[in-house]
Amino acid sequence: MGKEKSFNKIESEGKNREQFSSRFGLLATAIGSAVGLGNIWRFPYIVGQYGGGAFLVVYLAMVALIGIPIMLVEFVIGREGRRDAINSFRKLAPNKPWFMSGVIGVLAAFFILSFYGVVAGWTLEYIRMSLINGFSGLGSEGMVNHFSVFISHPIKPVITQVLVMAATGIIVSTGVQQGVEKAAKILIPMLVVIMLILNVYAFMLPGGAAGFEFLFKPDFTKLTKEGVLAALGHAFFSLSLGMGIMITYGSYIPSSEKLTSTALNISLADTVLALLSGIAIFPAVFAFGIEPTSGPGLVFISLPNVFAKMSGGYIFGVMFFVLLFLASLTSTISLLEVVVAFLTDQFKVERRRAAVLSTLAITMVGIFASLANGPLNGVKIFGSNIFDFIDNTTANYFLPIAAFISVIYFGWFLDKNIINKQISNGEIEKYKGFINIFMFLIKFVVPIAIVVVFLFQIGQI
Ligand code: PFF
Repeated sequence: MGKEKSFNKIESEGKNREQFSSRFGLLATAIGSAVGLGNIWRFPYIVGQYGGGAFLVVYLAMVALIGIPIMLVEFVIGREGRRDAINSFRKLAPNKPWFMSGVIGVLAAFFILSFYGVVAGWTLEYIRMSLINGFSGLGSEGMVNHFSVFISHPIKPVITQVLVMAATGIIVSTGVQQGVEKAAKILIPMLVVIMLILNVYAFMLPGGAAGFEFLFKPDFTKLTKEGVLAALGHAFFSLSLGMGIMITYGSYIPSSEKLTSTALNISLADTVLALLSGIAIFPAVFAFGIEPTSGPGLVFISLPNVFAKMSGGYIFGVMFFVLLFLASLTSTISLLEVVVAFLTDQFKVERRRAAVLSTLAITMVGIFASLANGPLNGVKIFGSNIFDFIDNTTANYFLPIAAFISVIYFGWFLDKNIINKQISNGEIEKYKGFINIFMFLIKFVVPIAIVVVFLFQIGQI
């Protein structure tokens, strides 16, 4: 089966869906969505908050046993449905409530983008500061101070957030994201190179060894039940699962492509980038006497210290923040795309109008998330400020619940022939053993694990 054939098939459905032109293009686009602030900003800060090595072990287990199988589930549903997240479910299971998984996913994308745009905006400030060499001579305390003064400012972080959202909206509405996604092919390898350089530097940092120990020497007494839930939530967040993004991308994958290796490669790349980020950051955290539990400021406080000290730090600093900004832009684009694809497919709203409306609405919510770090810090929802509430609720609840629904549908209700066809690409014999193990994971292990983590969290176990 060639790409031609699958393209004709899609066209004959009256839906002229685009497809990825090459395997590398497909991988780069999906990796571009998966790799972003989740790997470089969120991963280290929650590893720090939940105690280091033991959390990392749980996280890796979550990626392997839950994340990768779910990515494959989303790809199969998308490639079979050939529609956006919600309408793929509607097509495969008409008049059944399974599409609710897609609805929760679209909502999750909406809310995640609201605070994600704020953090992507912070990277703009860090590009500016790096360019004017503003961090040199600030010292550790000065860096902490700069970060907290900036994010709590009532106007500045709102301006950078609006800039990010405007860029995202323009790219999605004009459909030039193909160009941006092509750029991801260069961007992600560059990010890897710069992370590797920072990793080498981390090995040489005096006092950095404690950081390696923190990250790689698990101390299970530090693991909490909130940590286990956070590990699950972050696996979804980082792999872009549970919000229909991989269903939407799956709908663009040619029939000839092997979904299993695609899912494995993307997950591997995403995890390697998170680890590289941890290795770059934790030695610096310890070397410069920063608290690993500092929260969302961790990367913004620790790395400028490194850049201020290392030779060539000016250029590395600028490059790092530019790359981080661009990596977050490929993710904001894919988040907005989820919402826009839904509005255009569902309500037949014109693409440009859908992009403008959703960008405006998400930016409005995001402004509250931004202000939550400053003037609105006192406004609490269940004990957290608005920013933390949106961050944690979407990752820890929306994404696992949406994924849970699709996994139950896939494991227990979706026609087995569809699964066999999509996973084996016609080579059923070769994939038989794999499909059996995979189905066991999807029918039992994944849903039970999600339920157990929830019960554990609410104190029922
Ligand atoms: N996976 C992205 C990250 O780790 O930064 C965040 C993300 C992007 C999540 C796009 C979901 C998504 F649809």
